[in-house]
Amino acid sequence: MNKILFISTSMNKESKSKKFIRTFLSKLPDNKNTYLLDLSEAEKLNIFCSGYNNCKDTGICINPENKKNIDLVVQSDVIILGIPIYYGGLSGIGKLFIETFYCLERGELNGKKVIVILSLEKRNQEGIAVQELLPWIYKHGMKLIDIININAETELDIEIEKFKNTLEKINDWKLSESHIEFGKLNYLDRIVEIPISYNIEIEIK
Ligand SMILES: Cc1cc2nc3c(=O)[nH]c(=O)nc-3n(C[C@H](O)[C@H](O)[C@H](O)COP(=O)(O)O)c2cc1C
Repeated sequence: MNKILFISTSMNKESKSKKFIRTFLSKLPDNKNTYLLDLSEAEKLNIFCSGYNNCKDTGICINPENKKNIDLVVQSDVIILGIPIYYGGLSGIGKLFIETFYCLERGELNGKKVIVILSLEKRNQEGIAVQELLPWIYKHGMKLIDIININAETELDIEIEKFKNTLEKINDWKLSESHIEFGKLNYLDRIVEIPISYNIEIEIK
């Protein structure tokens, strides 16, 4: 049974990505093996990376709050990461969060499947954020399975239904050797070819 970890990085109490995640979770008949890490609930949000490179030797982040979050991710099979788009890219907190995994050097995240929920005001601005995310996914041998775009025009129920189908099929994904695949995404209002994912084949059963 897959352990699925939902991570909400928005600090906004009215956050659209958080609403998407919480609505989805509330509709599940059974929350077994499903976990939520909501960074806005942290008493003191102290998740910055102090740039202590020796963490790579020990494999342990010196910040205990980061260590808790890292352990949660290491113990999960599927990571659903909600991040707002600010100035066209990942929000500062979203970026801080992914930087905290720098201490992992021993394949701890290898093969984990990531779905990213990008929340933004306008449609089709995910290009820069996806580019910012890919080095993190690539370095740790994870696989980007899907990019969900939540914007002002999104009909939550429809998007949740699509997401449910993706999650139901998550075990059908056959992951082959990583190589970067290019796709067309919106980048500063132009459609350009940028790396979007790695070679992922779906296994038809
Ligand atoms: C500092 C800041 C910068 C933003 N920049 C963008 C932007 O470049 N493009 C956009 O479509 N929306 C932008 N927004 C709007 C947010 O992406 C939008 O409010 C989104 O819903 C945030 O996600 P959340 O609701 O999950 O917190 C920005 C908001 C803030 C606070």
